[in-house]
This record gives sequence, C-alpha cells and structure tokens, in this order.
Amino acid sequence: MKALRGLTIGVIGAGKMGSALIQGLRRQGVPGARLVVADADPKACARARRRFQARIVKSNLDVARRADVIILAVKPQQFPEVAAQLAQGLQQHPLVISIAAGMTLRWLGGRLPGVALARVMPNLPATVGCGFSALTFNARASARHRAITAALFQAVGAVVQVPERHFDAVTAVSGSGPAYVFFLVDAWQRAAQALGLPEAVASQAIRHTLKGSARLLDASPDDAAALMAKVASKGGTTEAALRVLTVRRVSASLVEAMTAAARRSRTLSWS
Ligand SMILES: NC(=O)c1ccc[n+]([C@@H]2O[C@H](COP(=O)([O-])OP(=O)(O)OC[C@H]3O[C@@H](n4cnc5c(N)ncnc54)[C@H](OP(=O)(O)O)[C@@H]3O)[C@@H](O)[C@H]2O)c1
Repeated sequence: MKALRGLTIGVIGAGKMGSALIQGLRRQGVPGARLVVADADPKACARARRRFQARIVKSNLDVARRADVIILAVKPQQFPEVAAQLAQGLQQHPLVISIAAGMTLRWLGGRLPGVALARVMPNLPATVGCGFSALTFNARASARHRAITAALFQAVGAVVQVPERHFDAVTAVSGSGPAYVFFLVDAWQRAAQALGLPEAVASQAIRHTLKGSARLLDASPDDAAALMAKVASKGGTTEAALRVLTVRRVSASLVEAMTAAARRSRTLSWS
C-alpha cells in the first residue's frame, strides 16, 4: 500500500461497491481522515462515518476539492451530473477512477478533458475482500496513477490490467460472474431439497462443496476439465449427472448467457 501513502482518497457514492472499497482501504491501514466521502443518501454517509470513520463532506464538489484520487461509485445514470460537478473543482493533476458498467474512458474524457482517468470493473465479492477487478487507463494516466489504482483495488482482491476493448467481455465474465454462481447455488439447493435433504443440511453441504472446490481449483495444477474427470469415475454417479448436463447443453447455454451479458454491456455503453 506504499503507493497510497499520503494521498487523500475521495469516494463519491458509498453504496455497495463504494463502501466495500472504503472498508478494504481501512483494513489496509488507510486512516479514516484520508477518506473523503459524499453520497446523496444521508444513511450511506452516516454508515461510512460510523463504521469506517470516513470524513463525510456535503457535496461531490467538496470531494473534488479535497481529494488527490476520486473514485466514482455511483450508477451510470448519475455520471453526467457528477462529472459536471467534478469539472468545477478538481485538484491539480488528479486521478479519477470510474467503476461504472459501460462508462467508457472516451465519454469521461470528454467531460473531464486533460484528466488522468482509470476505468475499473470490480465485482461484488469485493465486499468480503475477495473481489476481482479489471483495470484500464487513458493516455494521461502515468505509471504512478496505474500503481495507485492497482493498490486501491488490491485492497479488496485481485487486479489485472486489460485493454479497454475487453471491458464488455470482462463485465460478462467477472462483473456479472458472481450472479452465475449464485444462480447455480440456488438451483443446487432446490435440487438437494427435492432429493429429500433438510434445508440446513443441503445449505451446509453446498457451501462447503463450493468453498472446497474453489480452493482445490486454485491450489491444483489441474484445470477444471481434469478435476471434473477426477470426480467422475467410469459408470459412477457423477458421470450419470454430467451426461444429463451435456444432453441439456448447459455449457452452450452458459456461452449464450455470457454473450447476452457482453452485448448488453456494449449497448449500455456511454461512449
Ligand atoms: N454491485 C455490483 O456488483 C457492481 C459490480 C461492478 C461495478 N458496479 C458499478 O458500481 C457502481 C455503484 O454500484 P453499487 O452497486 O455500489 O450501487 P449502490 O449500492 O446503489 O450505490 C450508489 C450510491 O451512490 C449514491 N448516489 C446516487 N446519486 C448520487 C450523486 N449524484 N452523488 C453522490 N452519490 C450518489 C446512491 O444513493 P441513492 O441510493 O440515494 O441513490 C447510493 O448510495 C455502478 O456504476 C455499477 O455499475 C457494481
């Protein structure tokens, strides 16, 4: 976290993602006094002050005036208003980071000309410090700006830098990704109960299986297909299940679903 030392970090929007970042930064030792926060919702402000001792200011313009780095964590529809407020009061040489889906560097650069910009696609597990964030930058962003952005999002998980042309794909893969897992868990839970398992036992069995499988995938030199083969012995129970998933074309459905997510990201695009 050396890259963040001495910086004042502004957060506009202390909702799910904004507060996940504030929490991650506090855990990494960033003092509350270095976190300047504004949110349209007074409850979100009160929560950021109480839980994270963040400095709450009255307006987005106050954040712009005080912070060296500003994270925009509001919904895309709020961007035109927020960008206009920022344009009035930014510090010299600030770094502005957007985490909004579909909001391009071109769009933001048009509202904040000459400013160093980062576009980031995080995901919801950032709220438990286990997120995945893709980062990309405009030409104004220096090596220091890149290091600062990486450090900010490493506070809530893993980061990778990708060219902006991959942002629709990464939105479909990791931005929306947690929802695919929860969709699967929901169906898995209902199937377990249909087989007669009590709800609590089913829930415990699924959560542990999910956690253990994720850890195994992480630790093992084998890829997912090889690990699948290790569970499925010839003529066994797993093979019977996998045959149904193949016949029902579950992988093709997943490809179709993610293609729809990437297409939606493209059409949402504020370019
Ligand atoms: N949630 C995810 O899984 C996820 C993943 C990747 C990226 N993102 C992106 O992260 C951004 C934030 O999403 P979120 O899920 O954290 O949303 P959220 O929980 O709704 O938080 C947004 C916060 O900003 C406040 N706000 C609204 N207008 C504002 C304004 N003009 N100035 C200051 N604050 C304002 C909202 O207050 P009100 O409630 O009063 O409007 C709310 O407290 C979005 O752009 C989204 O695309 C989200």
